[in-house]
Amino acid sequence: MTSDAYTLGNATILGIESSCDETSAAILQNGDLRSVVVSSQFFHDKFGGVVPELASRAHVRSMMPIVREAFSRAGISSNDLTAVAITYAPGLMGSLLVGLNFAKGLSLGLNIPLIAVHHIEAHIFSALLESEKPSLPFIALIVSGGHTLLLCVRDVGSYEFLGETLDDAAGEAFDKVGKMLGLEYPAGPQIDAMSKEGNPEFVKFPRALLGESNYDFSFSGIKTSVLYWLKKQSDVTVEMRRDIAASFQRAMVDVLVSKAVQAAKAHSVRDIVCAGGVSANSELRERFKNECTRHGMRFFVPRPLFSTDNAAMIAMLGALKLERGHIADLSLTAMPRVPLAERPIVE
Ligand code: KG4
Ligand code: ZN
Repeated sequence: MTSDAYTLGNATILGIESSCDETSAAILQNGDLRSVVVSSQFFHDKFGGVVPELASRAHVRSMMPIVREAFSRAGISSNDLTAVAITYAPGLMGSLLVGLNFAKGLSLGLNIPLIAVHHIEAHIFSALLESEKPSLPFIALIVSGGHTLLLCVRDVGSYEFLGETLDDAAGEAFDKVGKMLGLEYPAGPQIDAMSKEGNPEFVKFPRALLGESNYDFSFSGIKTSVLYWLKKQSDVTVEMRRDIAASFQRAMVDVLVSKAVQAAKAHSVRDIVCAGGVSANSELRERFKNECTRHGMRFFVPRPLFSTDNAAMIAMLGALKLERGHIADLSLTAMPRVPLAERPIVE
């Protein structure tokens, strides 16, 4: 199947995202992104993680200005909208509700369709925001703060579950190891930057489940190894911190890339998409690009703005769903946990 599968109709869609700690709005018109505005709640860093109640309150404060800014940058008004697409799951209940209720109000007031978007499904199709598009079927590796999921994507809405993390999500491992290294939340981007100056061969951290015949991941062992290594030192220098960051990142990248490439080979699939916050990692991108070239595969990753949480991907999946007639109604509720594809039951 070619990228014709992604034909988008003539529609002007407002996408809204508020599932965690980013308030974002975007406008997609006839498949072209006209604007995207993202407001990140940096104040969570002093708590070492997202505080749900503070996150919802911040969404309440920023929702209206962010949506107004998206309209203003796109040069359109609410009367030009064909539909509103909203993240309804998964995420923090209070945060999801702020966006969902706002979107319901717009849908009702403007008499336009409401489109329900699953956040992880939107990460998969964030790759379509770039000009080079993957062909179906493709392998998708979603690596974010809450998820690590490997899927074979057959079509929009058709996903074969391959594997997931058995403990921490990849982003969570970056954030926890970052905390051990004295970094602020979220630590992923800082570990990425520090690793550029560090020695990735300094410590050989464990690569769990590598070479196993399944596609599951486990990151708790590597996290514990970093902790024990740090505890053993009487003094941890700045240089050592960089080397540990680089060694940790190397282990993470080894596992993520090799499992995805192995899945593509086993399914005779040529294209691999990596999305979610951790896909912004520079070593992960570089290694994926090189390994895919080496195996005659193609690698797709959205630019960092579209890798982390944003509403452009919500508008994009909204457009694909609208084209397929997938419209929600006002009974739509926010759901903190909804798996995108279930682990198959093995008899
Ligand atoms: O997808 P996302 O923005 O939010 C969730 O849905 O979770 O992902 C956030 C995660 C955080 O754990 C953050 O540390 C990680 O993505 N992250 C990175 C990088 N940029 C963000 N991890 C490694 N390297 C990066 N450059
Ligand atoms: Zn996300």
